Amino acid sequence: MAATTGAARTLVRGGLLVTAAEETPADVLIEGERVAAVAARGSEAAEAWARGGAEVIDAEGHYVVPGGVDAHTHMEMPFGGTYASDTFETGTRAAAWGGTTTIVDFAVQRAGESLRASVDAWHAKADGVCAVDYGFHAIVGDAVPDALKELDALVDEGITSFKMFMAYPGVFYSDDGRILRTMQRAAANGGLMMMHAENGLAIDVLVEQALAEGRTGPEAHGRVRRELLESEAVHRAVRLAQVAGAPLYIVHVSAGQAVEEIARARDEGLNVFAETCPQYLYLSVDDLARPDFEGAKYVCSTPLRPREHQELLWRALRTGDLSVVSTDHCPFCFKGQKELGLGDFSKIPNGMPGVEHRMDLLHQAVLDGRISRRRWIELACAAPARMFGLYPRKGTIAPGADADIVVYDPGAGHVLSAATHHMNVDYSAYEGLHVTGKARTVLSRGRVVVDRGAYTGAAGHGGFVRRGLCGELI
Ligand code: URP
Ligand code: ZN
Ligand code: ZN
Ligand code: ZN
Repeated sequence: MAATTGAARTLVRGGLLVTAAEETPADVLIEGERVAAVAARGSEAAEAWARGGAEVIDAEGHYVVPGGVDAHTHMEMPFGGTYASDTFETGTRAAAWGGTTTIVDFAVQRAGESLRASVDAWHAKADGVCAVDYGFHAIVGDAVPDALKELDALVDEGITSFKMFMAYPGVFYSDDGRILRTMQRAAANGGLMMMHAENGLAIDVLVEQALAEGRTGPEAHGRVRRELLESEAVHRAVRLAQVAGAPLYIVHVSAGQAVEEIARARDEGLNVFAETCPQYLYLSVDDLARPDFEGAKYVCSTPLRPREHQELLWRALRTGDLSVVSTDHCPFCFKGQKELGLGDFSKIPNGMPGVEHRMDLLHQAVLDGRISRRRWIELACAAPARMFGLYPRKGTIAPGADADIVVYDPGAGHVLSAATHHMNVDYSAYEGLHVTGKARTVLSRGRVVVDRGAYTGAAGHGGFVRRGLCGELI
């Protein structure tokens, strides 16, 4: 068994190789940090590697899949007077436990600050502490002319996507004029625009009215952030992007009406893409209504929706109108953090933990007959890698790719729980949920970082990845 492979050559042997493109019994030869070759199981080449003294990782009875790519996380994100509770160290370690070997996090530009300063600050947080590789998107929170000029340099540095918010007035919010100017810049420099699509100005009116009427609990969060205010913002973002001639990626889509807007744009041939997240596929407004303020654990934006939206999201994941599943991992402890919103739901920090469970929750969907095995890998690995300029270095298993590989046990049943998860947060959004399938052995650039229930990685193994331009354009 390979504990920590310093060995030059490692052979992952006897598994079923599953990528977005194929499923085939094959052995994978790793040299150093990269995949050197893939050969059919039992072929002369594979036997020669084994005889040649490569260290063998036995994958018999397991899937051999690319490490997960989570294109939407927020480690240590400042929000509502506090910070997301996972650091880059704890959050990337939890990612590794769950078979995710690349995250793309968000450097946050605040009002009055340069983009350079925000990116430098995020490098300082992540540098030398990550368990797996990471990249950054830039949150453009203050799209003044000087900031727009800075975007070109960011693209050259491998920060090739920019997120803006139509929500959170007074915090991250940008008006349509600023959004259009930023989109124009992205159209010119090749960056991909990402949008938090909710009509924040209208939502704030409904928040004020709800509080005035004494509706102060977490369930009101779901009510005021109306589905129509998500789909209206998606529509507006699509048309602004069309005017600018820029590609667009909508983050954390939860409402069926928003999916319809995205599908319409795509049917028109526009470069519009979107993700959803496991919480929208598995949780609902019923969770926001849990008693004793427990609903606060489920406060995120866009909000959880009524259960019937889940079927629409699954369908869109099958048809391709939704092309990626990310987590939007943004954990806040119930004690002391979510509790900031006791008596006023608008003060509950927005976000939920999930970076550790995405691969397993989507594998469960394979078992439930919702998506195919290859679609699982497409949504969790290949599509996010292509979308954000990481492919084929990440997101697949092929000669030359980084040896980010998961030996996945499709029959391993386990129960998701705060008692056993590795995220630095005091609750699980999926407490008690039984899923089948688990990463057994996880390699990050050729190094075994998780093996049979033991963490064998190290803080600082993960490095910053300079990303290329979006590789997904129509
Ligand atoms: O509730 C959420 N999604 N928190 C993280 C910030 C964002 O909007 O993505
Ligand atoms: Zn957002
Ligand atoms: Zn369509
Ligand atoms: Zn987010």
